[in-house]
Amino acid sequence: MSSKKSKKNKIQLVKGMKDILPDDQPYWDFIKEKADAISQAYGFKRIDTPILEFSNLFKRTVGEESDIVSKEMYSFVTQGGDKLSLRPENTASVARAYIEHGMVNLPQPVKLFYFGPQFRHDNPQAGRYRQFWQFGCEVFGESDPVIDAQLIGISYNLIKDLGLEAEIHVNSIGDNQCRPQYIKVLKKYYQDNKKELCKDCLKRLGKNPLRLLDCKNKKCQEISQGAPQILDHLCEPCKEHFMAVVEYLDEMNINYVLNPAIVRGLDYYSRTAWEIFISQSDKPEGKLSALGGGGRYDYLVEDLGGRPTPAVGFALGVERIILAMAENKVEVPRKKEIDVYVAQLGQEARKKSLFLFEQLRKEELLLWENFSKKGLKDQLDIADKKGAKFTLILGQKEISDGTIIIRDMESGVQEVVDFNKIKSEIKKRLAAHAAKQIKLKKPVQ
Ligand code: HAM
Repeated sequence: MSSKKSKKNKIQLVKGMKDILPDDQPYWDFIKEKADAISQAYGFKRIDTPILEFSNLFKRTVGEESDIVSKEMYSFVTQGGDKLSLRPENTASVARAYIEHGMVNLPQPVKLFYFGPQFRHDNPQAGRYRQFWQFGCEVFGESDPVIDAQLIGISYNLIKDLGLEAEIHVNSIGDNQCRPQYIKVLKKYYQDNKKELCKDCLKRLGKNPLRLLDCKNKKCQEISQGAPQILDHLCEPCKEHFMAVVEYLDEMNINYVLNPAIVRGLDYYSRTAWEIFISQSDKPEGKLSALGGGGRYDYLVEDLGGRPTPAVGFALGVERIILAMAENKVEVPRKKEIDVYVAQLGQEARKKSLFLFEQLRKEELLLWENFSKKGLKDQLDIADKKGAKFTLILGQKEISDGTIIIRDMESGVQEVVDFNKIKSEIKKRLAAHAAKQIKLKKPVQ
């Protein structure tokens, strides 16, 4: 077969997708562990919604004109004629589940978190994939600004727990009372500067003028510098709400900036909107993509047919966090220390080791084995590399005597013990080992 042909026949990873290889897993484990811990500490319960939803769910919430829905959704019609989409984000699905499962009847607020894949047919580049994972928190049934601040705090503190310095960019985009007025003023401003706008902004001007404020085109950004600011056009209740959020952020010592360009690319937001970036001082030159974003969405539940329910939440992009951790050389715990390595010599010993391994696994010990290896030296070398505390050695002699050898990997001392007492013997030694470690770690007074 010619090499050209074989290349053609080779099946490759789908564009924009990413394999998470064993070496990457410690990052994922670490982020999941920290995300779980902070969600539980703040009283959030986990929710998992399906990856497939009716396309209309996102059209009605994220918005038909948004880039996410108009350009980036993976949508298809099933054989039964249903119009479905791979979820491009999780907030709309969680709101659907909140309504569908009658969570409005639970004591409010209802606090939910998720950790799962999302799909957007975007242009792949560093930190932008077509399948990516989000960790997110959503709170339903609470309008008090303290919750907005608490959620900002959770997103900020989680990034800190992961060894990075975050910076929150926060804004208010008003509500249905004041935003229409502001949009009129904004539209007029951009209309007067129409000649200099990029093609995308000219399109947005008719459909969603707020999005002009976060255009990445240099010329558009210059024009936006002079644009009327929404904070000057908020109605009294929105102004009060925003002031309160900012006061809480001050109280919580959160590093934030007021950024009028934070308007978010999803239609469902009202009032508080924020994005999370790596703090400028930590940021390698020229790379400033958001690690996460969130905001209030007080109309979304009602728009989906539920009772009017104030809500607020955020989502963090897991791959972006991992990139930032790697760029900032954040170390994650890589290997778990092995308690016991099970070594065997000879066919009979191998059979008995299989049984022994299963017995020890049930005791929740961290184990390792290489039953395909025949030589003891090879097995002891591996046990050493894995950092095993003890190795159990089972050979022909031990089988006939009903015994087993316990080797202390640090001192090299070996002892012969009764095979039937191995569980208690090994636990006793592990406990003594742990006590010794604690003593060694104790600071000198
Ligand atoms: P979003 O800003 O579209 O908001 O996404 C949140 C985060 O997901 C982004 O800041 C980014 O870190 C990550 N992300 C988005 N697109 C990609 C991509 N193509 N590749 C890699 N990472 C990506 C939402 O999704 C809202 N549902 C957040 C929210 C929750 N608002 C209220 N509650």
